[in-house]
Formats: sequence, C-alpha cells, structure tokens
Amino acid sequence: MLSGIQPTADSFHIGNLLGAVQYWPRLQDTHDAFYCVVDLHAITVPTEPKDLHHRTLVSFAQLIASGIDPERSAVFVQSHVHEHAELMWVLSCLTGFGEAGRMTQFKDKAQKAGAESTNVGLFTYPVLMAADIILYGANAVPVGEDQRQHLELSRDLVQRFNARFGETLVLPEPYIMRGTAKINDLQDPTSKMSKSSPTGVVNLLDPLKTIEKRIKSAVTDSETEIRFDPVGKPGVSNLLTIIHGFTGRPMDEIVASFEGRMYGDLKKEAAAAVLAYAEPFQARVHELLADRAELERLMAMGAAKAQAVASATLDAVYEAVGFVRRSGR
Ligand code: TRP
Repeated sequence: MLSGIQPTADSFHIGNLLGAVQYWPRLQDTHDAFYCVVDLHAITVPTEPKDLHHRTLVSFAQLIASGIDPERSAVFVQSHVHEHAELMWVLSCLTGFGEAGRMTQFKDKAQKAGAESTNVGLFTYPVLMAADIILYGANAVPVGEDQRQHLELSRDLVQRFNARFGETLVLPEPYIMRGTAKINDLQDPTSKMSKSSPTGVVNLLDPLKTIEKRIKSAVTDSETEIRFDPVGKPGVSNLLTIIHGFTGRPMDEIVASFEGRMYGDLKKEAAAAVLAYAEPFQARVHELLADRAELERLMAMGAAKAQAVASATLDAVYEAVGFVRRSGR
C-alpha cells in the first residue's frame, strides 16, 4: 500500500484528515504500508524554498501525529529516495504525449496557469506519481476520486512495460476507502473544503481559538431544524459530518441527539469535536518539530526502508530495458 500527500500548505485541514489521512494509520494493520511526502510534486507550482522546506517537515510530523507508526511503516520524503525521479524518466519514455495531455487535472491546472507559465513538470506530474506507486509494487493505492485518472495511467504504464519488457512490475489498484467523509467549505458548504478559502477552511494547526471561531461562524440556513440532508441543508449537514468524522458516532444517533436543539448547540459540539482532536495533535506535531534530531532520525529511517524496496525495483527495470549494469555494485 502506498499513498502520498503534497507539502503545499502549512497545515493539514480537517478535509484532508477526514477525507484521507485519518484512514491511513488503520491500513497499517492490513497492509505493508508506505506513506510519502511528495515534495518533488510540490515544485510543479512555483514555491518559495523556505516554505517548501517548512511544509515538508510539518507534513512529515503531521503524518506521524495522525497515528502512523514510523517503526511499523515506511514514512518518508520523496526527494530522499532518488529512485523516484529515475524511474520517472523510464516511464516518461513509455508515455504518449497525447496520453499525458488528456489528463484532466493537467488541463485544468494548465488552463489556470496560462500557457506561458505552465511547466513541463506539471505535464509529467502523473508519470512521477506512477513511479511513486510502481517502485513499491503497491497494489493498493488509497486515493480520492480526483486521482482516479492518474491511477489509470499508472495501470496502463505497468501493463505496457510488462508487455514490452517482460513481467516486471506489479499492477496497482485504486483502494477506495469506505466511509471517508467529504468535508465542505464552512462559508460555501456546496464546495469542497480547500486551503485556498481562508475563512472556509479549518486547519488542524491553527490556534485553537481560531478553529473555534471558524466553526462558530459557519454558514447554516434560515430554518431551525437539524437533519442530515446534504442537498437541502448543506451547511448543517457539513457540521453533522464533522461531528460524525471526529467522534465516530453513528449519524442517526447524532441527529437524534439534536432534536429540539438549536444551531448554536450544533456549532458548539462540532467545535468541541475538532478541538478534542486538534489539541493533542498539535502537541505531538510541536514536540516532533522541536526535536530536530529525532525528526531527522525518523526521516532517515523511513527513507532507508523505502529505498531498500525502491532500488530493487529500479534495478529490475534497468535490467529489463537493457541498460548495462555498472560493475562493482
Ligand atoms: N497526486 C496526489 C494528490 O495530489 C499526491 C500523490 C503523489 C500521490 N504521488 C502519489 C497519491 C502516489 C497516491 C499515490 O493528492
């Protein structure tokens, strides 16, 4: 199992957590798990070096604070394992120009950036993602719906490689996580929560007071009834989903507990549920960031575990395509 997250923000938000990251620690029980902070992907969008640096460390610390055990799994930074970039080159030579151009995420991002500032890295982004997956022989890849097309490309590349060079690579499958919650923007509850909406997002590392204030200013509606109805009552349903996501209580039970109560109570409970998670989470993240030697030890341990697997795959790929092995290795 492998999954990756881009270090493109100073904090995970509750949509990242409830929609994906929250489920990653559980997969350690059933899978041989790899979790990657994909810093190579992050530079497809121009980023200040000091921001990238900070966000990479914070992302790594947050993965561990979320419950991933760095002893049991491999938690690592993508650029620490040079095989990612190397496998990507081989895969690039198997990817059609038109095939890469049809990726909808590329088309969206390119359109937003404009032809002049669209870089080639954005174009080959999905090929790098394929390399991430293929290096570890991952057959389970937990991703959201927006990554399905990229995963399809990874599958096509594996099949193409194996057909052309002999059975070498493992065919990945999307691992659709059951019960993942889609969290919406607090100010515009009909669109997905995103870091680009400053007042609609709840960052796990924001000051606790800010988290509370954001949730208490969430948009609801002009009625008073509390029921779960994402189409008719998107704001109220979003708050219910937040409570459900953080407490794990069944939705019916949560809704029943609000019978005859007001929106103010709903917001108060949603804020309390988030704070109960955020408080120890923040403490763990800050503890890790304050002990730089320990953080570096954990990153090095993850990179070593990852590289042991990645280098074996890359060797097999190099041999299959006909590269002459360098002697003495
Ligand atoms: N493209 C993914 C995203 O934006 C991040 C990612 C990079 C990834 N490499 C991956 C996800 C490999 C899963 C597997 O969310």
